[in-house]
Amino acid sequence: MSVHKDAKRITTQVLHEMKQNGERIAMLTAYDFSMSRLVDQAGIDIILVGDSASNVMAGHETTLPITLDQMIYHASSVVRGAKRALVVVDLPFGTYQGNSKQALNSAIRIMKESGAHAVKLEGGREVRESIERILSAGIPVMGHLGLTPQSIYKFGTYTVRAKQEEEAKLLREDAKMLNDIGCFSIVFEKIPASLAGEVTASVACPTIGIGAGADCDGQVLVLHDMLGITQDFSPRFLRRYSNLGDQMLDAIENYVSDVRSRDFPSKDEQY
Ligand code: KIV
Repeated sequence: MSVHKDAKRITTQVLHEMKQNGERIAMLTAYDFSMSRLVDQAGIDIILVGDSASNVMAGHETTLPITLDQMIYHASSVVRGAKRALVVVDLPFGTYQGNSKQALNSAIRIMKESGAHAVKLEGGREVRESIERILSAGIPVMGHLGLTPQSIYKFGTYTVRAKQEEEAKLLREDAKMLNDIGCFSIVFEKIPASLAGEVTASVACPTIGIGAGADCDGQVLVLHDMLGITQDFSPRFLRRYSNLGDQMLDAIENYVSDVRSRDFPSKDEQY
């Protein structure tokens, strides 16, 4: 029996059953209605409205500038396109670190104003109180450990995290804590595959990896990266499934050329 094939709608319970059943979880980002609909139709389990929208949609260098209002706008568009997938929304930088009341207010705004199903936030022990308060309001929380891009100015680089035992130990403890307080899933970003596999085997909740190896319970990529729409980003973990950037450029150049040469519109393309 396949849990995900039988599920009409993916819930946090379905994801837990998938882990128990040894079924891999497929997650991608989306930031708008059209992409969300395609991703959902393709059978994705989780759509992440990531704060990577700050880079991909808005052209910022980091994820820090995106606001809660902007995330809610993206999330509500994605929710309208998703009939089956679980929609998870990133709490943006500065909307949950202040205190747990601020965190809860931000999570409630996302749930109420976008119709999404869960929130994700970055960090371990330092945001424990915020996570517990959000969970106590009945809002499912996905954790995010390893490379946490909202802390890029603390790390200084986007390099692999937790390679040294000291940091690996903290990550193990944080993952156990996130699992124990009730996070429904944890993202591991850019950590050694062996560490991700070990922690995945030790927690009940499903883990989702990005640059964290094959032993996580699921995988996530940024949609525009895996489709080849963004072309200036090529980390080792990124598999490109298409070269849409080149195809789009080609199509747009053809259009420009047809307009200039008066080939478009033809007699059949007018009233
Ligand atoms: O914002 C995002 O896209 C993410 C993924 C990289 C996990 O957090």
